[in-house]
Amino acid sequence: MAHRRIDQLLANLGYCSRRDARAWVRDGRISVDGETATNSATKVDPSALLVNGEPLDHPDGLLLLLHKPIGLVCSHDTREGPSVYDLFPARWRARNPLLTSIGRLDKDTSGLLLITDQSQLVHRLTSPKHKVPKVYRATVDQDLDPSLVDLFASGTLQLEGEKTPCAPAQLEIVSTREARLTLIEGKYHQVRRMFGSQGWRVETLHRERFGELSLGELQPGEWHELALDCFDT
Ligand code: URA
Repeated sequence: MAHRRIDQLLANLGYCSRRDARAWVRDGRISVDGETATNSATKVDPSALLVNGEPLDHPDGLLLLLHKPIGLVCSHDTREGPSVYDLFPARWRARNPLLTSIGRLDKDTSGLLLITDQSQLVHRLTSPKHKVPKVYRATVDQDLDPSLVDLFASGTLQLEGEKTPCAPAQLEIVSTREARLTLIEGKYHQVRRMFGSQGWRVETLHRERFGELSLGELQPGEWHELALDCFDT
């Protein structure tokens, strides 16, 4: 692992401020390779450092799969209301780089949301170039019309205010007012706007899958860790 300054490491991993890190070193709370550290500016291998005898908390980074409940926003701005980030340990919320979602789900949407501090993963998995399929389950306010299947698949549906039409999307009508929609892009409120453009209002929306990943038995508000390299193949 790349060597980093002790104070920077502790601050970036959300343990304490850099100033506090100096005090923690002075107090003998930090050891490196079994020796008590004496200088918070020393560059160390993060895997060799212990805080109060404990290894560092995820020094390589975090990738989390969350079952987002309805009612939480994907934002760090407290003015926007309760946030998905409140579900995680305080130390993770104090990390730099910040935890961020890979794409967003609306406040009123539930389902699979990935959260990470790895900005390259965010860029890679949200880029339309990579065409990661996202599967949504929607219920709507009126009976669905089979003509929507061809329209959504056509690649010609133009939403108001968008420069490009929606990429071909796969619609499966599950029952009279329930459908599954697979998108390979993520325009703002895309599912609601696609149905809305044709006169249907989405009443409930849930993301079932992101690429190969699904929620399994995870309940709303629960999350588990994923390996940082799980998208490498
Ligand atoms: N489309 C929407 O309209 N909302 C979401 O949260 C995700 C996709």
